[in-house]
Amino acid sequence: MKSKPQTTNTDPIAIFDSGVGGLSIAQCINHHLPNENLLYVADTLHAPYGDKTAEFIQQRVNEIAYWFIERNAKAIVVACNTATVNAIDQLRKNISIPVIGVEPAIKPAVNLSKNKKVAILVTKATAENQRFLTLVAQYSHNSEVIIQPCPGLVELIEQDKKNSPECELLLSKYLQPLLDKGVDTFVLGCTHYPLVKGIINKICGANVIIMETALPVTEQLQRQLALHNLINPSDKIGTTRFYSSKHSDMQQALFTHIWQQSLQLNSYP
Ligand code: DGL
Repeated sequence: MKSKPQTTNTDPIAIFDSGVGGLSIAQCINHHLPNENLLYVADTLHAPYGDKTAEFIQQRVNEIAYWFIERNAKAIVVACNTATVNAIDQLRKNISIPVIGVEPAIKPAVNLSKNKKVAILVTKATAENQRFLTLVAQYSHNSEVIIQPCPGLVELIEQDKKNSPECELLLSKYLQPLLDKGVDTFVLGCTHYPLVKGIINKICGANVIIMETALPVTEQLQRQLALHNLINPSDKIGTTRFYSSKHSDMQQALFTHIWQQSLQLNSYP
């Protein structure tokens, strides 16, 4: 059943992820569309999505999307690769507002790779998803594209251990064999991974290209808003409201640290 929400251009843009990963997208949206009001939901109670089934992820995505619609969201950004590949098609069938997902930048990566060796870092649920595998096959062309699942990484980021030796060790375990094979271009296929880009850069060195998706997602959102006459005409700075399904002091501190501004974390639902 398609809902028919009555939204206006001053209504908020809704953004969600299994946790803090989607903040890497929300920051970019906030920077490029500063007059928009944003709602951000982290489904931390159910993170990581990467080790869940497609059915479970679809159920979570539906529930969160309807909560957004009740709050008059004018567009939804699925700021999570795992949720995008597992649930965006059914979500678009069920709701009538624009839904923007994240897709890894495979095509530009293949074009940029000198060695024609690209690695995509993803969650386990993304690595096993048929929609994702089809996308990889479609854009690989004459390059070797290696899919590298990174279990454990999202958990460390959610526990605010992204600067720990443990995190660097885990990343080295995933990245070093790829570097040894001559991979010169890495695609971050999980929105949590830009939060550890500093460590990835350190391990990979200056000659390796790291591709992110926050800007293309923001540009796609901008196009969709313009197409539906939904750009907020206000010249005032918009508000951003943050929600988590596992509200705690630690979560509050983690959000504040990543957002780099004081904020109030609310309980979802
Ligand atoms: N940030 C998410 C993604 O882009 C989800 C990670 C997870 O919860 O496993 O895939």
